[in-house]
Amino acid sequence: MQYAAFLGHQPQISIAELSATLEDFSLGEVIDNRIALFNTSEKIDQSFLDELGGTMLIAQRITEESLTLDDIPQVLLNEIKSKRGKITFSLRTIHIPRSMIGTIYRRCKKRCKDAGRGCRYVGSEKKPAATAVLHEAELIDGKDGCELVLMHVEEEEDRTLWIGKTIAAQDIDWYTTRDMEKPVRDTTVGLLPPKLAQIMINFGDFLVRETNSDKSNDVITILDPFCGTGVIPMEAIIREFPVLASDISMKAVNGCKKNIDWIRKEEEIFKKDVSSEVFKHDALKPFDLKELPDVIVTETTLGPPMSARPSQKETGKLKTQNEKLQCDFLENAASSLPGVPIVCAWPAWKQKGGWVRLEKVWKTIDKLKYRPSLPPEIEPEDPKRFSLFYRRKDQFVGREIVLLMPPKS
Ligand SMILES: C[S@@+](CC[C@H](N)C(=O)[O-])C[C@H]1O[C@@H](n2cnc3c(N)ncnc32)[C@H](O)[C@@H]1O
Repeated sequence: MQYAAFLGHQPQISIAELSATLEDFSLGEVIDNRIALFNTSEKIDQSFLDELGGTMLIAQRITEESLTLDDIPQVLLNEIKSKRGKITFSLRTIHIPRSMIGTIYRRCKKRCKDAGRGCRYVGSEKKPAATAVLHEAELIDGKDGCELVLMHVEEEEDRTLWIGKTIAAQDIDWYTTRDMEKPVRDTTVGLLPPKLAQIMINFGDFLVRETNSDKSNDVITILDPFCGTGVIPMEAIIREFPVLASDISMKAVNGCKKNIDWIRKEEEIFKKDVSSEVFKHDALKPFDLKELPDVIVTETTLGPPMSARPSQKETGKLKTQNEKLQCDFLENAASSLPGVPIVCAWPAWKQKGGWVRLEKVWKTIDKLKYRPSLPPEIEPEDPKRFSLFYRRKDQFVGREIVLLMPPKS
């Protein structure tokens, strides 16, 4: 089955997440670096999308016939024929002239009326409906209608009209709630966006499956040894993955505990069903855990947040300090958490000439025989670094996401 994924603001990471999540993922065309066409035989629905951080909306292709825009009113009528009462529809279009979009909206409405179906639409020729509106209007679950996705796609010198319907869309309000309304927010250590935490957890799940094929579709235990106020542990709990979280700072430990308690209440996930343990620990000192976790997923430490570009001198100092911390942590993980794969985010600093990133830590990775990895079909952005890079235009500290398989046993 073919789908179109409307990607978040870091398209390469979003595609990597899809590849990590779907075992038979096969990437097709990527349109305007923001929509990825892909094939999979796995089930794609709203609950699948809820577990992704990097995709905003997914549409399923509904016909491969070579149709034109004139056929769209009939396509809509076919899609809604099993629904009763007044229907709602909407259009999401790519590379279709604005004047045409208005015409299609009107023709669809008229066609429904002629067929005796009362209807209304959400969205307009200027802007497709917001994802919250699609949920409110019950277009995703198909109860009250549907959203058609229409894209002109260049395929082997031909221009095809890709026709699909939206089957899943991100619940933006719930992301905002868990980011902004959790009881403890510590902006002094930088806040990991919940969506990036989800992506990192999906990479962790992928590494566990790669390391241990018996683990597929299983629950995995996650350790975040630099947990801060706990965005990764919270997202793990929502996913119903047991979690161990530690931090060198007691303030962070207490904040993380409070945030976990809050998310448990919000989601009604009880400790007896999904366990969590939060404790004070220096991640550079040996871990003494009753059982090894399945995977480490952690943001490590990014250093101080920056409101301006750091000077070259300052960057050099931060880099040296951070490099040492990352190396010491990896040495410790290799000896006290042997065989456990790692997903980590390292800092990178914006400078006039580009981004300054960690260097020496790759030598440590080599020495410890960790194996940097990426999901299938994903090329590193920089061929010299087997990693993904997350950065926002307005930020001076970026995050390099590194996936490490443990040494071969
Ligand atoms: C960038 S913050 C992590 C933020 C976290 N992902 C969140 O969402 O809140 C890094 C954390 O690492 C902790 N940290 C720094 N050095 C550490 C060490 N040696 N061992 C454990 N934690 C450490 C800091 O106290 C801080 O809470």
